[in-house]
Amino acid sequence: MARRLTLLRGIRRLVTLDHGHDGPAVGDAMGDLKILEGAAIAAEDGRIIEVGPDATLARRYREATVRQARGTLVTPALVDPHTHPVFAAPRVGEWKQRLAGESYQAIAAAGGGIMSSVRSVREASDRALRERLATHAARLHRHGIAFAEAKSGYGLSLDDEVRMLMAIRWWNKTRADDAGIRFLPTCLAAHSVPREYRNRRGRYIDLVCNKILPEVKRRELAERADIFCETGVFDLDETREILERARDLGFRLTIHADQLSRLGGGKLAAELGADSADHLEYADAATIRAMKKAGTACVLIPGSTFYLKMRKWAPGRKMVDAGAVVALATDFNPGSSPIVSPAACMTLAAMHNGLTPEECLTGFTLNAAWAIKVHDDYGSLRPGRRAVVTEWDVEEPAEIAYAFGDNRVVGVTKL
Ligand code: NIG
Ligand code: FE
Repeated sequence: MARRLTLLRGIRRLVTLDHGHDGPAVGDAMGDLKILEGAAIAAEDGRIIEVGPDATLARRYREATVRQARGTLVTPALVDPHTHPVFAAPRVGEWKQRLAGESYQAIAAAGGGIMSSVRSVREASDRALRERLATHAARLHRHGIAFAEAKSGYGLSLDDEVRMLMAIRWWNKTRADDAGIRFLPTCLAAHSVPREYRNRRGRYIDLVCNKILPEVKRRELAERADIFCETGVFDLDETREILERARDLGFRLTIHADQLSRLGGGKLAAELGADSADHLEYADAATIRAMKKAGTACVLIPGSTFYLKMRKWAPGRKMVDAGAVVALATDFNPGSSPIVSPAACMTLAAMHNGLTPEECLTGFTLNAAWAIKVHDDYGSLRPGRRAVVTEWDVEEPAEIAYAFGDNRVVGVTKL
């Protein structure tokens, strides 16, 4: 078959994030975006073959189909390593309750919060779930994202967890290529103990370990398993039990950890060799050290810290300075973070987690891809990676986070 050669030309400023190796950017390197001025990208059959000076590549690839860059800044397409995009209804009423002083935990204890999304997902038809997912995918894509992790976790029964993951599979098989955004499914059956198991939580844990996870594995609906490890949700022993089972079944692991209290989920993630622990508002120095040593990524979610009006922000600066892998995510979900904008999360991370604006961009590209183990495809503009970029209407990288509330994405471009 004839090869399809394409050239993206006229890139004023190109963030390559090519550090010359396959790993994440840690420590001082996290702020080094590896920028080229006046660049072009050559791609063959959708994969990058060369990145370099515009004139050189134009001479070298005369036969390529040429596209002109639209943005003043071009970066690797954004990667979002933590989202909950399969849900049936927003929870605006709950947000208003929180504005009036109710806490996230009190709303959950009264049967709202995650359980209200569980009710609406269970009532929604497969078709309605797919339509909502399509709407959410389009919104994420408009904000520059080409690849996002996507969790189940609003089903909390065998059938409904499978239905959520099937919606993600449907998207990837039938819509992802045309729409320009693809998802990595993660099974979050351990998001909460559903109401009907309230007085027999052991039975629900048994269902997760012995029915839901094995079935998800058998049908290859997800490669990763996640859990909400938190006071009042799943404690540390339950988390260990469920994640060890998931690991034995062959899942890679991630944890919602140390978000509302210092329960120890971050340390456990390191001990179990999880891909990442996410949130981490309460992570201490020992947790950061353990995660760095294990190569478990710290995924910061300032959007939910903001929406839950928490005073405590994850110690991002300390994580970077300690040499841990630090990534950022929107955590797009109808409760704690109805945010589809990585740029807005970058602003929050710069203002409250102590990251520089440049580190924020690495957090949503190279390190995000590494955190969910898709760094061979996404996150940097190196030969071999998918040729997909986000084009921006900004002069310099820091302007992405600076332009709070604006969407400076010109488009996500696939070569
Ligand atoms: O990442 N922390 C737990 N889970 C989600 C919120 C889910 C929800 O409120 O619906 C999170 O914040
Ligand atoms: Fe989450």
